[in-house]
Amino acid sequence: MANIQHLESRGHLKFLNRHFKAGKKISSKKSIQFVEHNPQTEDGKFQFHDQPFSFGPEELKGLKIFFTQQVRHKHRHRGQQIRPSDQAQGGIGNCVACHTPPNFTDFRFHNTGIAQTEYERIHGPESFSMLQIPGLEERNGNIEAYLPATGKHPHAQEPFRAIPSLDNPQRTDLGIWNIFWNPDFPGSQLAIWSTLCEDALKEHFGVFRGFQSCRPDWLLPKALGAFKTPGLRDLGHSAPYSHTGITDTLEGVIQRYITNSDLARKGKLRNGDSQLKDIVLLPEDIPALTAFLRSLNEDYE
Ligand code: HEC
Repeated sequence: MANIQHLESRGHLKFLNRHFKAGKKISSKKSIQFVEHNPQTEDGKFQFHDQPFSFGPEELKGLKIFFTQQVRHKHRHRGQQIRPSDQAQGGIGNCVACHTPPNFTDFRFHNTGIAQTEYERIHGPESFSMLQIPGLEERNGNIEAYLPATGKHPHAQEPFRAIPSLDNPQRTDLGIWNIFWNPDFPGSQLAIWSTLCEDALKEHFGVFRGFQSCRPDWLLPKALGAFKTPGLRDLGHSAPYSHTGITDTLEGVIQRYITNSDLARKGKLRNGDSQLKDIVLLPEDIPALTAFLRSLNEDYE
């Protein structure tokens, strides 16, 4: 972000211009130039997407929103109130907090509230907070009742790795909660534990805690509803979105972030990631953000 601002302020930000032809040297005019044609195809269009091949002012605006983060003051803890002036302006995506380039994923686990959204669509507002979820001891003491079916436990009921249904309010998908400290997945535990532990310790910023405080029973509730951050390249070919397929459109995804960041700020998102509180978007930000996400589409077979 700082790099873009620096280049822009000095008039150096430059994209391939429309007259670009393979092999031709690009002129080094000190102005912003955008991409409008695909240098790889005869007609300058995408081969496998029906959107225009372009990166223009709208995509750049979306890129900036994607990379914009709140200024964290020294004494401002995560999730503290956002100034009303920021709230009114929007334009703070904070997307990069989890979708880090070049793959647009941090390869970590976060709860963005999608499990809650899906659950409450069926059982009504605030119902997810009432759902009884066992602690570690109870869960591991009754694998058949609580954990996913595996070779060792073929008849396990896996209520927490299920699609919500009206007649069984126990059913939902709690993501990595199902796998963490699950004795049927011994090989994955060290990697999952260390990721969850690092993130949990970061949350307790300022309070001294070491790795020894990362007891599995302390970490398990923090794994509730958390999923691995997906990469964001070529989304044009991967709808519907999120682990539940909650929406078919990128606009729908951003709208969901607007709603869930608001719920997170009000403390109404069960185990919601604290980074959500720092997303401040308005409906007006949606077209630019989705234009940027579409610019990550690529032609490949
Ligand atoms: C707290 C971390 C976090 C932040 C901040 C975040 N995301 Fe995500 N994103 C995720 C996770 C985790 C998922 C998967 C959620 C699920 O399936 O339950 C996801 C899913 C998505 C998807 C769906 C991808 C797919 O293949 O289904 C899109 C698109 C997306 N995010 C875009 C964004 C944008 C744009 C922003 C900024 C407004 C953003 N994300 C902010 C973690 C985050």
